[in-house]
Amino acid sequence: MSKIHVLHENDEWFAPLAGALRAANLPCEGWHMAEGRLDLQETPPGGVFFSRMSASAHTRGHTHSPDYTAAVLAWLERHRRRVINGSTALRLEMSKVAQYMALEEFGFLVPHTVAACGRGRILAAAKTFSGPFIIKHNRSGKGLGVRLFQSAAALQAHLDSDEYTPPVDGILLLQAYIQAPQPFITRLEFVAGRFLYALRADTSNGFALCPADGCGIGERCALDGQAKFVIVEEAFPGRERYEAMLKAHDVSVAGIEIIRDTRGTVYTYDININTNYNSAAEAEAGISALSALAVFLGGELKKTRCPRPNNS
Ligand SMILES: Nc1ncnc2c1ncn2[C@@H]1O[C@H](COP(=O)(O)OP(=O)(O)O)[C@@H](O)[C@H]1O
Ligand SMILES: [Mg+2]
Repeated sequence: MSKIHVLHENDEWFAPLAGALRAANLPCEGWHMAEGRLDLQETPPGGVFFSRMSASAHTRGHTHSPDYTAAVLAWLERHRRRVINGSTALRLEMSKVAQYMALEEFGFLVPHTVAACGRGRILAAAKTFSGPFIIKHNRSGKGLGVRLFQSAAALQAHLDSDEYTPPVDGILLLQAYIQAPQPFITRLEFVAGRFLYALRADTSNGFALCPADGCGIGERCALDGQAKFVIVEEAFPGRERYEAMLKAHDVSVAGIEIIRDTRGTVYTYDININTNYNSAAEAEAGISALSALAVFLGGELKKTRCPRPNNS
């Protein structure tokens, strides 16, 4: 029987999706990518394949899962399987530099960023910033390694301390700090390649802003007592351009983070190909990204079962 196959490495994040697919009566199977065996001569099973590989896999002990996933995706794509968020999307998920290049190509403003590899180059890069800057890992999620510095000397002390976590791919990003007038960022969720909703996330308690249930449950905003994650009606520039950028990189499902500075200039700084949803925020707004995702995946599965005739 053809199914929706979900490639992932985190059961906690897979469970809500599996629940939504079950609720929609859609057959699904999780492929946990921490370990695997792939006979290259075999033909993949039928159905739809959805990759939810995460750039933070190594923080759960699954350092090789992204590479193994890339291998499996090459196999699936060679066999022309319908893959959602396939190998080009994985490339974006694994590298913020790749994300920024994609964003810039489509005319989005990205905070000034320098990628550095090696301690000496990192410190030399820090000296080129005249104001506060953030460091972050090129391959990361969940705010991993994100810290704010006022000077190169402060960064040097941090690099020498036990608190410094080196980036898993060796590439550290130094980025101009965007001072928002209020401690919020906005995360734009896209499903089936289309904008679905905007989520406001409160940044007053730090840079770890994963909206997944379990990461932020029950937390309140320090400023107005609202929940840490709230779905908002927010105008933002470039909706069609974001959709075009995602399409160009074969990304159907993503969460894109933007921040406004004190002048109202919008910067885009993170594309999450593997995105999670906050159920409390969604319940409050009466919207469900997982339901939208189930409709999308169900439709894609149906297409693989009833392919259009070639001459249509
Ligand atoms: N240039 C920046 N200026 C101000 N805040 C930032 C900047 N970059 C990141 N942040 C803050 O840090 C958080 C995590 O950074 P992000 O780039 O999204 O990394 P991750 O992929 O780990 O989520 C953001 O959601 C935002 O709150
Ligand atoms: Mg982020």
